[in-house]
Amino acid sequence: MPRNQTKIEFIYEPIQEELAKVEENLRTLAGVCEAHLTGFLSHILPSQGKRVRPAVTILASRFHPNSGGAPVIMATAVELLHIASLVHDDTVDGSNLRRGIATVSSLWGRNVAVLLGDYVFATSATWVCDTEDVRVIRRFSETIMELSSGELMETVAAYSIEQNYEQYIERIYNKTASLFRTAGETGAVLSGIGEMEVKALTDYGYNIGMAFQIVDDILDFQGTEEEIGKPVGQDLLQGTLTLPAILLLKRYPNDNPVLELFQGEDREMNSKRAVEMVQNSTILAESYAVADQFRDKAIDAIKVLQSSRERESLQELAIYVTDRRW
Ligand code: FPP
Ligand code: MG
Repeated sequence: MPRNQTKIEFIYEPIQEELAKVEENLRTLAGVCEAHLTGFLSHILPSQGKRVRPAVTILASRFHPNSGGAPVIMATAVELLHIASLVHDDTVDGSNLRRGIATVSSLWGRNVAVLLGDYVFATSATWVCDTEDVRVIRRFSETIMELSSGELMETVAAYSIEQNYEQYIERIYNKTASLFRTAGETGAVLSGIGEMEVKALTDYGYNIGMAFQIVDDILDFQGTEEEIGKPVGQDLLQGTLTLPAILLLKRYPNDNPVLELFQGEDREMNSKRAVEMVQNSTILAESYAVADQFRDKAIDAIKVLQSSRERESLQELAIYVTDRRW
């Protein structure tokens, strides 16, 4: 299913300066910390990812002329929270690779990973406080609750087939779309724009976040390790039921490798069988259709905003994350 790639350079072009400041903020943090933290922070803070979430914050702040410096501060906080949550996620999952690079827990052990995640997460909170906006601080706190709750949902439901589409949607909102929503909402709030526009950018963040996670879940069945920077087929092996697996169970409710895998029978073989069954069916296309619906809702949500280069970037970004192979 070859899907066209929109160029990220075009999308980030109007906010290059601000994104460079976010990058510099992250680099500086690794440089000015206490000596025993330098090695750890230099491993996780310099540019590893695409910085999609801070880009949403900055673009969302561009619909009002008086946005000032707060959006860059918030964008830095958003990326720090994202990085912290990945350090924790890799620890919970026992993953060795993230974006093709060894994880903190695999290099230095789980104790270091938990404490380093806490450190980065608390650092992000200090950046949010520097926005001096209580509404934004509150939303940020709610996001941490939602992220943790989403991760707990996943843990509690591991290896259970009693999960439906609605529960999946709630879980991926919590663990992923919540932070995207916050990225859009806080950028808008900090720019000083009106409530109608704040709602549009909040809805945009929610919907692009949902599309992002559904594609993440699809790529776990469809991508290659080289593309996604981590082994494929990990979700089922870890007992996580994502959209393609839910659709597979619906299609074959009785004789299904997911049932056997979740009962603990030959996990490797059953995971491989499930991946093959998904790949050889229309399930990937059906899953992409769901991601596309969220992508389209994200694009529609911001049609109420004034037409601008930034709006075009946000719309193209929704397409970019849905078409990605990373
Ligand atoms: C990656 O998704 C993980 C998340 C999006 C959220 C992780 C959240 C926590 C660990 C909550 C606690 C964090 C803090 C800092 C309070 P995934 O597991 O679907 O993707 P993956 O396959 O890339 O790991
Ligand atoms: Mg994970």
